[in-house]
Amino acid sequence: MGGGIAQVVAASGRRVSLHDAAPGAVERGLETMRRSLSKLAEKGGADPGEVLARVERADDLVSADLLIEAVVEDARVKEEIFRRADAVLPPAAILASNTSSIPITSLAAATSRPDRVIGMHFFNPVPVLKLVEVIRGLETSDETAQAIVQLAIELGKTPAEARDLPGFVSNRILMPFINEAAYALLEGVAEPEAIDTIARLGFAHPLGPLALADLIGLDTCVAIMDVLHRGLGDPKYAPCPLLRQYVQAGRLGRKSGRGFYTY
Ligand code: CAA
Repeated sequence: MGGGIAQVVAASGRRVSLHDAAPGAVERGLETMRRSLSKLAEKGGADPGEVLARVERADDLVSADLLIEAVVEDARVKEEIFRRADAVLPPAAILASNTSSIPITSLAAATSRPDRVIGMHFFNPVPVLKLVEVIRGLETSDETAQAIVQLAIELGKTPAEARDLPGFVSNRILMPFINEAAYALLEGVAEPEAIDTIARLGFAHPLGPLALADLIGLDTCVAIMDVLHRGLGDPKYAPCPLLRQYVQAGRLGRKSGRGFYTY
């Protein structure tokens, strides 16, 4: 998602530095951006070369007006990045997280500027989907929230504000839907194709819940459900054992070539 976010920010005319600790990840991100920008250019979008010229590779965190973090859904990893970013970025900079579920308040507490920490949650594929869920931590200031709402609009997105409770709004609704689909499969109610066809044609969803879980990543889904389960304390949010088992088997969805479906 980091590449998609970099793409929409660069397409809005801003300069972006793209950093990933994993070797080759930035190159893969740039390749995905190239493909996406070419599709959009065919429909009258910006010149891919011009947009990509505004994106530079960074070997580490760099000084900037805004950081948008999009690393793995692991609170400790994110907190460490926020701690380091707090030391590297100027005091006036805003530190935003694309987290799907980690509390913004705990990321803010890892910094000396909790008023300038916020959730800026994009949806996959970022260049296509219009929503940005904007999440205020306990101490996020009105100025910070207004700046991020305004930025989302300038990126061509529609912001919707949510409070910092587990899963915010999007995943509090989406994850129980995906989880119930996994239970329907586990209990032999229907085959994956039938489950997804019912959601696609019955509810006019572009993807069924199992195909969507494969897109999001089954490990990410389980991590988000664990946050919901722990944070809200209700067993109804506990991940379906089948989801956990697929993750144990390395069936993580599209990114590993196999999840509910084979790619
Ligand atoms: N960049 C640019 N254009 C893209 C693109 C990309 N990455 N992906 C798709 N497109 C374009 C295609 O070129 C196509 O354009 P035309 O209509 O002009 O031909 C259009 O989008 C539709 O694409 P496709 O015909 O290939 O396929 P589709 O009709 O299935 O649409 C989709 C693709 C928009 C991704 C659609 O499948 C969809 O909306 N899927 C659901 C995605 C979703 O629910 N995402 C949310 C995940 S949850 C999340 O991200 C956050 C979280 O916290 C877990």
